[in-house]
Amino acid sequence: MDTDTYLLNFKGFNFERTLVDKDLLENLEDFEIRDDDVFIITYPKSGTIWTQQILSLIYFEEHRKQTRMMETIDLAPFLEYNIRNMDFLRRPDPRLFSSHLPYYLVPNGLKNKKAKIIYIYRNPKDVMTSFFHFSNWVVVFEASKNMESFMQQFLDGKVVGSLWFDHIKGWYEHRHKFNILFVSYEEMKKDLRSVVQKFCKFLGKELSEDDLDTVVKQATFKNMKADSRANYDDIITNEIGKRNNYGQFLRKGTIGDWKNNFTVQQSERFDIIFQKKMKDIPLKFIWDINEE
Ligand code: A3P
Repeated sequence: MDTDTYLLNFKGFNFERTLVDKDLLENLEDFEIRDDDVFIITYPKSGTIWTQQILSLIYFEEHRKQTRMMETIDLAPFLEYNIRNMDFLRRPDPRLFSSHLPYYLVPNGLKNKKAKIIYIYRNPKDVMTSFFHFSNWVVVFEASKNMESFMQQFLDGKVVGSLWFDHIKGWYEHRHKFNILFVSYEEMKKDLRSVVQKFCKFLGKELSEDDLDTVVKQATFKNMKADSRANYDDIITNEIGKRNNYGQFLRKGTIGDWKNNFTVQQSERFDIIFQKKMKDIPLKFIWDINEE
């Protein structure tokens, strides 16, 4: 199959063809946004399901106490991907959403600073590494022969989410139009407790010290991997489909796995492109687990 078989291009942005809600896409601008809505916005493979779990734990006491066994995909469903046929409008406030949309396609209500957005970004070498393994695992993404061919696709933006550079730059350069907080995957990895506090402050939520501890504990890689509400096992098996049993959504969950996957030449080539494209974007990137 060629790339076009997997991708649906709508207004210059690539969506996964089989899961995207095409009716919603046509009417995205008018999708009704409420003041209490919260959006997790990411480029794929940047920490979406992690943030779904964290916000579900912050917002829903039953989730924190494990008295309601709802999966995070249903508590913070994707806006544009109809994975579970969730009826958005019948959900009580506050509504959490997840999305990979670029800044220019989101509902107008968000542009009017209604609702809050948490944008999670990750160093793009790890994004690309995670994306490569994920694409080779799930059936709805195009498998690549090797890292070299995936790298070409990634740098050409011929993947779900289009070009990584466009996504992050678009959101960053238009940040003033939105009520948005930028947080990196690496900050979460290095000090999850501080990030949860940062989220709470931005969202106007107060958690007791005990509840904060519970959120942090249930959102660790190890605990999420074992938590059927948060590990996406069921969704991949039943809704999305996998090519083999070797993969896992919660694959490595580290900073710097790109070093095990990139050749020196690939890394140097990536650095040159990164420096050129990102020179005006002051966001901090962490490429190595030992970096401060
Ligand atoms: P890896 O493939 O590098 O392991 P997304 O949810 O946006 O698709 O991102 C998936 C990536 O986030 C995967 O990266 C996954 O392991 C990582 N991830 C998910 N939950 C995590 C957690 N609690 N801690 C660290 N990484 C996590």
